[in-house]
Formats: sequence, C-alpha cells, structure tokens
Amino acid sequence: MTARIAVIDDEAPNRMYLQTLLGTAGFEVQVAAGGNEGIALVEKERPDLVLLDLMMPEVDGFSVCERIRKGPAGAWTQIVVLSALDAVDGKIRALELGADDYLVKPVESRELVTRIKGMIDRAGRLRQQGSQARGRLTVVAGAKGGIGTSTIAINLAASEAIGKGAEAVVLADLAVPVGTLGSMLNIQAPERWAWGEALAGGASAHRLSSYLMHSPQVPFQLLPGVRRGSAYREVSPDAISDFATSLRGLGEVIVVDLGNQPSPFAPSLLREADVICIVVEPEVICVELTGSFLDRLRATGILSHRIRLAISNPHGSLQLSRTEVAATLKMEAAAMILYQRDEFSAASKRRLPIVVQQPQGPAAVQFKELTQALAAV
Ligand SMILES: Nc1ncnc2c1ncn2[C@@H]1O[C@H](COP(=O)(O)OP(=O)(O)OP(=O)(O)O)[C@@H](O)[C@H]1O
Ligand SMILES: [Mg+2]
Repeated sequence: MTARIAVIDDEAPNRMYLQTLLGTAGFEVQVAAGGNEGIALVEKERPDLVLLDLMMPEVDGFSVCERIRKGPAGAWTQIVVLSALDAVDGKIRALELGADDYLVKPVESRELVTRIKGMIDRAGRLRQQGSQARGRLTVVAGAKGGIGTSTIAINLAASEAIGKGAEAVVLADLAVPVGTLGSMLNIQAPERWAWGEALAGGASAHRLSSYLMHSPQVPFQLLPGVRRGSAYREVSPDAISDFATSLRGLGEVIVVDLGNQPSPFAPSLLREADVICIVVEPEVICVELTGSFLDRLRATGILSHRIRLAISNPHGSLQLSRTEVAATLKMEAAAMILYQRDEFSAASKRRLPIVVQQPQGPAAVQFKELTQALAAV
C-alpha cells in the first residue's frame, strides 16, 4: 500500500516542492496551507506521516503538533517537524509536544526522502508485529436486558487491567442497537466516531487502535460503542469477520460487551472468541431464555468448553439457587455476582468499575473469581 504523507506549510512554494519531491518518491501526498486546515486533514485522512512547518500565522506548528498527537490520529501518525529554526529550545519543545523528529531546513532532498522512508518502514514493521499479536478475546453476552451484562464486561476488563496495565487491555462495546459503556464509564465518544466507517473496507488493528479512548479514572482502553441511529446493519459480514480478527491486535486482553439483542456482530465474534461468558440472572424467565440461547450457540458448532456461565443478580430476586440454575442449564456457574445494592449504586453513580471503586470489597472478590475462571479456559 502506498504510504501517505500530509504536508502542513503556509508557504505555497514549499508545499509544491515537497509535493513534487515526495510524489516522485512514490508517496501519496496531501497538503494543507495552515494549522487548522492541517489538523482537520490529518484527522480525516489519517496519514502515515505528517511533515510540519513551525512558523505559520494563526496556529503555529507547536500547537498543531500537540493537537495532532492528542487527537484521534495521534496514537500512530508520525510527525516530522521541518523548520528553518535551529534553536535547541524549539527542538526540545517540538519533541516534547510529540514530534518524532526535527529536521532543520534546508534539508538535502535525498536525505529527506531516505529519512521518511526509514521512519515509515520502521512503523510498518512495528505495526506488523502488533497486528500479528493475538490477544485473548472474551465475549460477554446475555439472553435478556438489564441483567448486568455490561457491568460484568466492565469489571472483567478492569480486573485484568489492574494486573496488566491499561495498554494491555481493551473493552469493546458491541452492544446494539446502542452501546452504554461510554456513559457507564463517563467516556464520551467524539462526534467523528463513525462506527460503520471504521469497519468498512476491513478495519485493521492499526486503524481501530486510533479510535481507542482513555480516561484517567478507568484502568483500560475503550473501543466506543454503536451510536443511536448508526447504520451498523449495513456493514458486510466479511468486514465484521475481519473486524473480529483485528480486535485481537488491540491488546493482550480484549473483552467485548455483545449485549443481549440479536446482532450482526454475534456470529463472527462468537466464532472468534476464546471464551464466551454468558450472563444469567437466577430467575425463571431469564434461565429459560438462557437455555435456548445456549442451544442456539451449540447448534452453530460452538462447544461448551469455550462457554462459561456467570450468575448475576442485579435485582436481588434470587428465585433460583446456583445449584438450580446449573441443573436447569446443565452447566455449572463459573462465578456468582451477588446482589449488592449500595456498592453497585455507589460505583455506578461515580461511573467507575466496582473493582476500582472498592478493590477490597466482596464484589471485587467475586469478579476476581470470575476473571480467573475465564482465564483458565
Ligand atoms: N450484583 C449487582 N447488585 C446490584 N446492582 C447491580 C448488580 N449488577 C449490576 N447491577 C446494576 O444493574 C444495572 C444494570 O446493569 P447493566 O447495565 O450492567 O445491565 P445490562 O444487562 O448490560 O443492561 P442493558 O440491557 O441495558 O444493556 C446497573 O445499574 C448496575 O449497576
Ligand atoms: Mg448492557
């Protein structure tokens, strides 16, 4: 694939020179004549590398560098500052704001092309390693709404992240028709997050990783959920299948909230999952629905050895005991999350995983038990 470069420079002759030079060298080049235009171009086009001038009117190169780095393309776009300024302070500032390299103009054209090729090749190799990495995929699903499926997904991801670190753990919100994890964790997906667009045309791990969201309160990364009204049904099954594979490239542990509705994501995700955690409320109707859900799963060829049951009791309506649930579903529960009204409501008000809010509490112990049972699959 042709590598793409964005040139941000206010002077037309510079833009033309770089466009010709880099175009001839085989890159696809796009140009912007100012800071704001440049940031918009980078966010939209997600180039492999940005060549950035520093002295520009209105928005200067330093703030462009900082804003690109902190923006949605910032995790993987390389930024090379190309400036006539040769002062050490300016170089340090640009590097601290996220530039990968700083070159002083004039740069000999062959040297510039060789350096850029080297940087893009290096990033490609690292990416290749990243996407070959196969993180462990855990899919959490329920047969009914409002039974604590999302709460379990959040706390599984948080329990894993407490040991492994935020970089290693991703929670993906695939519940349809609308994902709730963003609001449960107080992480707002940016307006430009377009679910269908991210998936169309094969979502590589590289591309998906540019959509991961962080928050200082939450110990993992979040792949935001489907928005109300988004055209998730229009994504082709092939694209969904690629997406399910790509998800693994995002980290060491990937937890998916699949929700409780029939979903176009379900077939690929359930096939791809290393472990499927089925959430069930110990109540007659939910157990019955879960029974037919399990039958449907097995009918697709998914064997019970990848499936684990988690009993969740968000309403305190313990109609059935753990033994009764197991007998009806012909499967032991891996763990049971008891009804804990005050603890869950405090965590939910603070929009935190309960294992973060009360790491020593009884719920945290139950989630740890579940995490271990799933890790042993
Ligand atoms: N063990 C528990 N004890 C008390 N409250 C709980 C427990 N588990 C979950 N809850 C609360 O139940 C509510 C519903 O949980 P959650 O949103 O996780 O369910 P869900 O099955 O994902 O629902 P939805 O159908 O909306 O996706 C939340 O307010 C949550 O804090
Ligand atoms: Mg939910």
